[in-house]
Amino acid sequence: MVRRRLHPLSQAAQLVAEHGEKVVGFMIYELHKTRLHILNFAVAESVRRQGVGLQMADKLISKLSSQRRTRITLEVRETNLPAQMFFKTLDFRATTVLRSYYEDSPEDAYLMQYRYVADAVEATLPMGRIDRLAG
Ligand SMILES: CC(C)(COP(=O)(O)OP(=O)(O)OC[C@H]1O[C@@H](n2cnc3c(N)ncnc32)[C@H](O)[C@@H]1OP(=O)(O)O)[C@@H](O)C(=O)NCCC(=O)NCCS
Repeated sequence: MVRRRLHPLSQAAQLVAEHGEKVVGFMIYELHKTRLHILNFAVAESVRRQGVGLQMADKLISKLSSQRRTRITLEVRETNLPAQMFFKTLDFRATTVLRSYYEDSPEDAYLMQYRYVADAVEATLPMGRIDRLAG
């Protein structure tokens, strides 16, 4: 999938999903100032449709916040319907068509984006109202 070269001003990070001794999924993403950008993401064919991808994407979504990085973006091939369905399930939306985006084929890409939604606590409590909260 997608671009494999890093943006010159960004840092890269990765998520790896393991089952026993085996790596069953990996994701490489760039850290930009206000967003995360997924460069590469795959789950082993033998364990697809078992929620591995969902757990990995949830982990990435949990890194967003209203103060810092508020979006996740990625490009997906127009022919990659499974990935489009997967990201749609997670509330990613296609925002732009990138014409003839790939060097290895004439197909277009869709730029898909997820926007951070403040959770209930963050939405109702102004920042700084509570200094410490013990259970
Ligand atoms: C896209 C990918 C990472 C999804 O990983 P996964 O672990 O199979 O996904 P999950 O099991 O967590 O799927 C969660 C939900 O997404 C949707 N979904 C996932 N794969 C789908 C498919 N092939 N067709 C339709 N919907 C799909 C479903 O709603 C699914 O829930 P369900 O299985 O209960 O119906 C995996 O298919 C993959 O590695 N594809 C090849 C590489 C690739 O295309 N990467 C992304 C490029 S941008």
